[in-house]
Amino acid sequence: MLAAQRKPSASMAMAERVRQMRERGREVISFAMGDTHVSPAPQIVDGITRAMQSGQTHYSSARGLLELRRAICEHYYHAKYQDDQILVVPGVKQGIYYVLQSLAPKRVCVLEPAWLGYKATANLLNVPVVSNDQTQPGWVDRLRRETFDVLIVCTPNNPDGKVFEASETEQLISICAAKEAWLISDEIYSVYDYSQKWHSLSEFDYKRTIVCNGLSKSHALTGLRIGWIASHHRDLVDACFEAQQHIATCVSTPVQYGVLDMVRPDFAELRATVKQYEANRQAICQRFPRLAPYAPDGALYFFVPASLFGERDGTALAEKLLDEAGIAVVPGEAYGENFSGFIRMSFSVSEATLQTGLNQLTPFLIQ
Ligand SMILES: Cc1ncc(COP(=O)(O)O)c(C=O)c1O
Repeated sequence: MLAAQRKPSASMAMAERVRQMRERGREVISFAMGDTHVSPAPQIVDGITRAMQSGQTHYSSARGLLELRRAICEHYYHAKYQDDQILVVPGVKQGIYYVLQSLAPKRVCVLEPAWLGYKATANLLNVPVVSNDQTQPGWVDRLRRETFDVLIVCTPNNPDGKVFEASETEQLISICAAKEAWLISDEIYSVYDYSQKWHSLSEFDYKRTIVCNGLSKSHALTGLRIGWIASHHRDLVDACFEAQQHIATCVSTPVQYGVLDMVRPDFAELRATVKQYEANRQAICQRFPRLAPYAPDGALYFFVPASLFGERDGTALAEKLLDEAGIAVVPGEAYGENFSGFIRMSFSVSEATLQTGLNQLTPFLIQ
């Protein structure tokens, strides 16, 4: 299939439209992007600058700096992985590409609503994808009956923020074990856990688990492209390492040095951002009590039915909000075919932007 025939990322397509509207002088508030509104912590900016100034600008090992992999093992996984079980990659997106390419699965299963990157990546590799709607009763039994050799999960989930209970994770693992299937766990939103129940799938002893995480969302580094994959299967990590050698060579060396002392899920600036988004989530519930039942366990989004705005179709609603309210959201169809009646609204914005946006949305919500 030619690239032009593939479906573009819905959130990126919306971001492009917002950019064009702004260029034409129209004011638009974007609740479309999965990006933080803050800048990276000064220690990271200083660290990258220092690395540049001291000439740490050359190729690094394709696995990533050893000190960085050690820091990831220690700060994210209580040293459950060894440094050679981690590969530093240019973002989770590319990490998942390496994993799927290396596993060469017959069929991938995703739990919808799901981030559209999983299907897109599988499509690039011509791997068939089957989806399971996890909002419908009986989804676990349906998953058990489904045929797949890779299951991709995301917790907290994009777009609906769902965080798995430990009992659900155990069920997923037992289903995968019975099929000898690989389990890819995308944990990119792990620090945004308002439910206080998030756990990494690395805490469970299933050897075919591949955990993916990174600094895009937690450290405000979406444009710097740094993340990692971790797995007890050294052969898989080695296969991904080989792919990386040929595709990217390595993650930007100054960025790797720059984040060395900050690669942890807990520091003052990060805590402040999480607190801000928790307050935003709360403010939306208070302002629009009809959205409160959709308050996410985690991540950065409300995923809500268009019917709350008097529309049946999420795409029609997104168009209307953009044209009439100057608010950009992402239509739900991007997250699975059962979700065309939904929209995703990001709340990773400043308090002032949130308040202005909510004012503009007020006339469109059914009270
Ligand atoms: C669930 C999920 N995984 C991965 C990514 C991409 O992460 P990265 O910037 O590390 O490639 C996104 C970005 O929106 C996401 O929502």
